[in-house]
Amino acid sequence: MSHEPSPANGKSIKIVIVGAGSVGVTTAYALLLSGLASELVLIDIDENRARGEATDLSHAAHFAHARVRVASDYSACEGATAVIITAGVNQKPGQTRMDLVKTNYGLFEAVVPQIAKHAPDTILIVATNPVDVLTHAAYELSGFPKERVIGSGTAMDTTRFRHELGLYYGVNPRNVHAVIIGEHGDSQLPVWSLASIAGMRLRDYCVQAGREYDEKAMDDVAQRTRGAAYEIIQRKGKTNYGVASVLVSILEPIVKDSDAIVTVSRVGTYEGVGPVALSMPCKLNREGAHQDVPLLLNEVEKEGVKASALGIREVILSVKK
Ligand code: 2OP
Repeated sequence: MSHEPSPANGKSIKIVIVGAGSVGVTTAYALLLSGLASELVLIDIDENRARGEATDLSHAAHFAHARVRVASDYSACEGATAVIITAGVNQKPGQTRMDLVKTNYGLFEAVVPQIAKHAPDTILIVATNPVDVLTHAAYELSGFPKERVIGSGTAMDTTRFRHELGLYYGVNPRNVHAVIIGEHGDSQLPVWSLASIAGMRLRDYCVQAGREYDEKAMDDVAQRTRGAAYEIIQRKGKTNYGVASVLVSILEPIVKDSDAIVTVSRVGTYEGVGPVALSMPCKLNREGAHQDVPLLLNEVEKEGVKASALGIREVILSVKK
């Protein structure tokens, strides 16, 4: 086996990660193990720390055949397939994601134009919270088409939702089809009307499986999904593994040009409210989040999307004042 980095898909794939905090470096590690990238670049305001992380990661890269390096300026974004932004302050116990908006918006004002200048054709993937507000900010600050500005959004909550439903029904989460849409935050919305297991709506699945459909238990599932990050942050001070894996699942269809449907945040008009970024299922390929997959929502769900969009839009407007 060669010890040279082996380019994914036969061509070189450079991914830049802005922010070498725990989400950034866990994402870098998950990416290394995925084999998707041939080159990973870390950029952090604390260059010394980033260098330490990159050196450690490059010892793992030895097995994964990718090159890892640190860059001190944004010219390193040139030629990147994607730039993932994880930089910014994190929630502390008791804080909502929206509480972080002022600080992290300021950081985006400094960082995004520099990325856009050096990598005008790249795809921006935003993980910093509040991710919907900052996906909208990244769209405006970069001038990129909306397809190339993707927020990790409720891909994370959708994963947690499937995990919780899988636990409750005793099936592998891969056999659960269910999505969370709207805000990656408190106004998120489980799409109960379309949730299914093995191709059957939940109520039908329950009939076939000879069990009750328990409304209260489903409310608890939604509550645990919405509250998961709060609980993790309360216990360990941050979340990193879940979101890092989700970022890889967003990057994979981009790199492999595979048209996988992922619930990501993208700028648009939702239930008459816009422009605003929030999550809906989208097809992802090398062009980015290039096509919405419109869901057949019921009236209650449509109202929920509208409320979520209005809440996010209000924060977008307030941060610009
Ligand atoms: C998460 O949901 C905190 O947004 C982060 O894990």
